[in-house]
Amino acid sequence: MGIVTSTNSQTIVRCGILWQDQQHSELLRCIRNLQQKILDKTLDMTELNRIRTFLVWYVDLHFATEEAYMAELAYPGRAAHKAEHEGMTNKLMNLFEVIEDGMGHPDLHACAQLCVDLNKWYLSHIAGPDQDLAAFLKQQGVR
Ligand SMILES: [Fe+2]
Ligand SMILES: [Fe+2]
Repeated sequence: MGIVTSTNSQTIVRCGILWQDQQHSELLRCIRNLQQKILDKTLDMTELNRIRTFLVWYVDLHFATEEAYMAELAYPGRAAHKAEHEGMTNKLMNLFEVIEDGMGHPDLHACAQLCVDLNKWYLSHIAGPDQDLAAFLKQQGVR
């Protein structure tokens, strides 16, 4: 695993590739933003939908970036890594499904669970397959 630092009770796992770490940090920032709005009790459905839209868009961009590098450099684990990205995209859609309380407001209990699930969703991939990809990219001279 890469360098692990803990800030604000959340964990950043570094891969050692600049663009990859920057994109991972942006994903974490988005999850933190959601968490903070729940704590501040300022989360409404408009904001929740905005966060979801950003997260879905940014995850797609991030996965596409990793997949472009994998294709360009003929990464041997490409098929499995790409399949994991697809599974994660589907999971992300499912995670946001049961989030409205039936009266037009976010269900805060479900949102708190969403943050826990998003952190697991994020960490399991970055601390696992992304570390292998980063090691390969470094071998290939990517920084
Ligand atoms: Fe990945
Ligand atoms: Fe990644």
